[in-house]
Amino acid sequence: MNRRKFVGISIAGASAIAGLWAYGETREKPKEPTIKTPHTLPIPPLAEYKLKDGKKIFDLTIQKGEKSFFEDIKTETYGVNGDFLGPTIKVNNKDKVEINVTNKLDEETTLHWHGLHINGKNDGGPHQIISPNNTWKAKLKIDQRASTSWYHPHAMDKTGYQVYKGIAGFFLIDDEHSKKLPNQYGVDDIPLVIQDRRFSYNGSFSYIASMHDRMMGISGNYIFVNGAMTPIFEATKDKVRYRILNGSNSRIYMLGFEDEREFSLVATDGGFVEKPLSMTKLLLAPGERAEIVIDIKAKEKISLVDFLSKSYLLHINSKDTIQNTKALPKTISKISPIKTSSNERIREFNLSMGMGTARINGKKMDMDRIDFNVSLNTSEIWRIKNLDGMMNMPHPFHVHGCSFEVLSRNGEAPYIFEKGLKDTVLINKGDIVDIRVIFRKKADRNNPFMFHCHNLEHEDLGMMGQFTVS
Ligand code: C2O
Ligand code: CU
Ligand code: CU
Repeated sequence: MNRRKFVGISIAGASAIAGLWAYGETREKPKEPTIKTPHTLPIPPLAEYKLKDGKKIFDLTIQKGEKSFFEDIKTETYGVNGDFLGPTIKVNNKDKVEINVTNKLDEETTLHWHGLHINGKNDGGPHQIISPNNTWKAKLKIDQRASTSWYHPHAMDKTGYQVYKGIAGFFLIDDEHSKKLPNQYGVDDIPLVIQDRRFSYNGSFSYIASMHDRMMGISGNYIFVNGAMTPIFEATKDKVRYRILNGSNSRIYMLGFEDEREFSLVATDGGFVEKPLSMTKLLLAPGERAEIVIDIKAKEKISLVDFLSKSYLLHINSKDTIQNTKALPKTISKISPIKTSSNERIREFNLSMGMGTARINGKKMDMDRIDFNVSLNTSEIWRIKNLDGMMNMPHPFHVHGCSFEVLSRNGEAPYIFEKGLKDTVLINKGDIVDIRVIFRKKADRNNPFMFHCHNLEHEDLGMMGQFTVS
């Protein structure tokens, strides 16, 4: 190496830094924005509906807004029936539901019901586009166990950006077992959506800045719960059920309490587990949900934390006296295992990343390509592999229109918090995960179902495919 040249460069660099420093001296230091904290935990309102001919009719409007995450600064956002995030839709199993979704943005969007067992036409995927100033009517016949699902946009190449701007909400289904657990919405049945965001100096969301962000994920500098920074929830009862949704674009959380107390897992993506499962830590990847019940005594202060980023997410305080409620049931609800079809077909899905692309079985998503057809009411084993040596990226794999069972992870039992029925499963680097899927709803060529990585940047890069069910 030419040492002389190297020295020359470093001196030039040093004088440039000195110059900047001198400039900084004469300049007033800009005021750093202060994040607003703490406030009480915001609870998304329940969406109102009208009853007509035995159907529950909801109206959702996707719109632009602005929100003050910082003192004295407004951030431009998107929201549903409001500035940021959307109301909670709460219905019962067997309800007939109609949702009018109006797009008031200047761009195309869609609204997908993540976790719902409905046909392809009403799924809200990339084929059910809502152009600006148009309304799309989704007809949903609710036909599944009580569960915590959610809705978010799914327009081709735009999912990540639109979710980041704030379009997301809960979709809760109750059934005859729901009352065995705390179920007073906003009192002892609390939805929590966890999302990280990165901001620019001027307070605007700083979405994708580079290819690195797209491939590796954007680590937000703030983590919000229901759109608030480490808010406080005042518990009035000794047992509270939290329905936790990882609504982040790419961040994975290891959730638990600061004092590492035990909590009970009562439901995963597709609804209740059979028996409450006691644990202290829970891994939640983008798109996944977990319902937990925690016990708190009077005058306690505890905190929900993320052990991976070492951040506080939510503080929970209890009053001087709190109401004692009944113990959790030993059995919440039986899950009948998916009926295995004879000659069960095995399908493989190889997830891989390349420079600027993300693929499944070597292919990028193409709206005009249907990857395969699955026979209605026939179970299959899907073997999902993340054996791509190039990048150490985990991929949360999600399937539309169904719930599945996680059978094995690298030939061993799945994680304890993967019990019950799921629709999203984390595939770590080096993992081979087997799931058993069954589809009870149809999807045709014009309205196929998607399977994809729920790291939304990977999805937008092409790690998605589509299939029909007939
Ligand atoms: Cu949460 Cu294809 O979606
Ligand atoms: Cu989905
Ligand atoms: Cu991925």
